[in-house]
Amino acid sequence: MSGSSPASTPSSNEGATARVEIGSESYDMPVRSGTVGPDVVDISKLYGQSGHFTYDPGYTSTASCESKITYIDGGKGELLYRGYPIDQLAEQGTFLETCYLLLWGDLPSREEYKDFEARVTQHTMLHEQMYRFYTGFRRDAHPMAIMVGVVGALSAFYHDSTDIQDEHQRMVASYRMIAKMPTIAAMAYKYSVGQPFIYPRNDLDYSANFLNMCFAVPCEAYDVNPVLARAMDRILILHADHEQNASTSTVRLAGSSGANPFACIAAGIACLWGPAHGGANEAALNMLEEIGTVDRIPEYVKRAKDKSDPFRLMGFGHRVYKNYDPRAKVMQQTCHEVLETLDIKDAPRLKVAMELERIALEDDYFVEKKLYPNIDFYSGITLRAMGFPSSMFTVLFAVARTVGWIAQWQEMITDPSHRIGRPRQLYTGPTERDYVTVDQRG
Ligand code: SDX
Repeated sequence: MSGSSPASTPSSNEGATARVEIGSESYDMPVRSGTVGPDVVDISKLYGQSGHFTYDPGYTSTASCESKITYIDGGKGELLYRGYPIDQLAEQGTFLETCYLLLWGDLPSREEYKDFEARVTQHTMLHEQMYRFYTGFRRDAHPMAIMVGVVGALSAFYHDSTDIQDEHQRMVASYRMIAKMPTIAAMAYKYSVGQPFIYPRNDLDYSANFLNMCFAVPCEAYDVNPVLARAMDRILILHADHEQNASTSTVRLAGSSGANPFACIAAGIACLWGPAHGGANEAALNMLEEIGTVDRIPEYVKRAKDKSDPFRLMGFGHRVYKNYDPRAKVMQQTCHEVLETLDIKDAPRLKVAMELERIALEDDYFVEKKLYPNIDFYSGITLRAMGFPSSMFTVLFAVARTVGWIAQWQEMITDPSHRIGRPRQLYTGPTERDYVTVDQRG
C-alpha cells in the first residue's frame, strides 16, 4: 500500500488515494485528513471490493472512529481536550468546567457554568434503596468490583433515563453519571473500610464534596483541606478523557449495540480495571513499595528489560506517547504540592520513584523503546498521601474518566452514520469436518 506518511500536522492529502495491490488486482482507497494528526486510509469498502480484511490486532494502526473531542500527539507529548492543552486546563480550570467542555465542545460562560454546576449538584444523591445494594457485597470486596456492580445496576433504579433515542433521557443519564460517580465511589470506599456512608453536601464543590464523602465521619466535624481539594480536582481533569483508549473503545462498542448508558459505563469500568490500563496506578505503587529502597532499583530495571521475565515497570510506557506523558508532568508537580502540604518530606516511595525515573530515562533500553513515565507513575504516591488505599486508585480514575466515556458515547450515538461495531478475523482453526460419535473416537 502506498500513501501519505504519518503526519502530526494537517496534510494536503485529502482527496488522495492509497492503492492496494493484491496479485494482478488493485484497489484505490480514499485518504482522509483530520484537522490535525495522521491522515487515514478509508478501507471500509476493501472487503466488498477485494474479499480481503485488514489485520491489526491491538489496533496499533487503526482509527476506529472520527472524533472532535480529544487529540493526542504522542511524538510531541501533547494532549488537547477540544483543542485546549491539558496543562492549561489543569492549572487554570476546574473539573466541572472540563466536563462542560468535553460534553458541549466549548468552555462555558459564567452563567452556563453556574447552571451546569447546579444541575450536577442536584443529581449527586443516590436512590436510597441502592444503599442496601452495597450490603450484598463481601465486606472485603475490591472497590472496583463494587463499582462495576453498582454502576451496572443503575439502569434498574433509573430506568427513566435509559432510552438512548430520547435526547432528554440521554442528557439526564449523562448528568446522573457525572454527578453520582463520586457518591458511588465514596460509598464503595466507606463500605470497604466498614464506616458509615456520608451523604453528598450541596454546599461543597465537586472535589471537596468527594473528599468529604470519603473521609468525613458522623461523630466529628471534618474540614476538607482546600489544597487537597484542588489537587483532587486537578487529578480528575488529567484523567477525564484520552481519545480511543481501551475503556473508551469498550464504551463505544457497547453503546453501538444500543445498550443503555449505565451498562456502557459499567463495561468501561470493567475494562479500565486491567493493570495494563487504569489498574496501572495501583500496580505502580505496589511496584514502588516492592522495590522499597533506591539500591534495589537496578535489579528491577534489569528484570523489566528481561524478555523472559513478565515484570514491567508499571507506570512506564504508552501505546501513543513516545515522549513524556504531559499528564505525568502535571501529576508530578501535584505530587510534590500534596506531599509538601501534608509535610510528608521523606516519602521513601517518592525517592524511589524519582530515582527510578532518572535511571530509566538514561537507560538505552527505555530510550530506544521511547518508554517514559505515564500518568500512573506519580498518581499512586499522591493518592496514597491523600489517604486513599491503593485499591481506590482505579476507582478515582473511573470517576474522572466517566465524563470522557459519556462525551464519546454521546458523540457516537448522535452520529447518524454510526453502526454496530462488529470486527472480523483471520481464521486459522480447523476447516469443516464431520461429527464422530464417541464410540468411534477411540
Ligand atoms: C493508561 O491508551 C491510553 O490512552 C491509556 C491511558 C488513558 O488515559 O486511558 O493513557 C491510561 O492505561 C496508561 C498506561 C498504563 N499502563 C502501564 O503503565 C503498564 C505498563 N506499561 C506497559 O504495559 C505498556 O507500555 C502499555 C500497555 C502501556 C503499552 O503497551 P503497547 O503499546 O502494546 O507496547 P508494547 O507492549 O508493544 O511495548 C513495546 C515494547 C515491548 O518490547 P519489545 O517486544 O518491542 O521488545 O516496549 C516494552 C515491551 O516489552 N515495554 C516495556 C514496558 N512497556 C513496554 N518494557 C518494560 N516496562 C514497561 N512498562
